[in-house]
Amino acid sequence: MTAPAIETRDLTRFYGKHRGVEALDLTVHGGEVFGFLGPNGAGKSTTIRLLLDLIRPTRGTARVLGLDCQGQGLEVRRLVGYLPGEYRFYENLDGRRMLEYLGHVGGQVDPAVVASLAERLGADLQRPIRTLSHGNKQKLAIVQAFMHETPLLILDEPTTGLDPLVQQAFFALVEEARAAGRTVLLSSHNLGEVERVCDRFASVRQGRLVGVETMADLRDRAVRLVSLTAGRPLDAGVFAALPGIDDLVVDGLTLHCTVQGPLQPLLAAAAPYEVVDILSREPNLEEFFLALYGQREVRHEG
Ligand SMILES: Nc1ncnc2c1ncn2[C@@H]1O[C@H](COP(=O)(O)OP(=O)(O)OP(=O)(O)O)[C@@H](O)[C@H]1O
Ligand SMILES: [Mg+2]
Repeated sequence: MTAPAIETRDLTRFYGKHRGVEALDLTVHGGEVFGFLGPNGAGKSTTIRLLLDLIRPTRGTARVLGLDCQGQGLEVRRLVGYLPGEYRFYENLDGRRMLEYLGHVGGQVDPAVVASLAERLGADLQRPIRTLSHGNKQKLAIVQAFMHETPLLILDEPTTGLDPLVQQAFFALVEEARAAGRTVLLSSHNLGEVERVCDRFASVRQGRLVGVETMADLRDRAVRLVSLTAGRPLDAGVFAALPGIDDLVVDGLTLHCTVQGPLQPLLAAAAPYEVVDILSREPNLEEFFLALYGQREVRHEG
């Protein structure tokens, strides 16, 4: 059996007393596009830096493509296309020279591959990097991550600063990497983007793994947040008995709940109360975590 693309066991990193990540057990299979989803400070970048041996663990182990990240960091970095969360460029070079330089450092790079990536992302290779906007620098960071055509890509918030069209071009690159049998780890704050491109994802918050989901599981468990205003006082008992309704709060003429599955039973039950207004939306990231893992009551404002 081939080794997993990424495997961590009890991976832990404290910064002094501060938890970066703790007791992380993660397995990413070869050929997967794997999302790493969590809010600010969740431990995504810490984990990624541990995988690349840019920082050392407090305890635990990490392996990439069968190699020990701590003992064989150099070999690991050769096999990984890495996009850091904060990229430090050689600001006085133009994009072309910077990519040439990185190409030499990281082994053979096909100039045609660089040209094609740059064109698809609309990256400007002529201007000095220091004069480029944030999004245009990010395009260069993506080019350098993909240009070595490594078996594993580790991308720390790759879509930061990209406009929607460039995001689309980026997602197409990820799809092609998957089709070519390469593995991608992609960190994100954004559930929508993870849903769009990943096969599975891990949720982290406050340095802890909260869960690992497949997209199929997620679709089965997808909920909507519904707020409804009626013309007559609502009877909570009627709504509590409906299938797929949870987190129900009825207060006179208003009702809030989460709905799993079709909205029709709720609409039918509400119709006799002369519905004045109804709002239905997908949960945001925070609410998604709460609904999925039930840490607190789901909030409806915002
Ligand atoms: N160099 C450091 N020194 C001290 N604490 C750190 C350091 N780097 C990270 N941390 C702490 O470790 C925790 C995890 O940070 P990390 O950067 O891994 O989160 P993240 O999930 O990448 O967040 P973001 O989405 O904001 O990039 C945070 O509480 C952070 O403050
Ligand atoms: Mg980060």
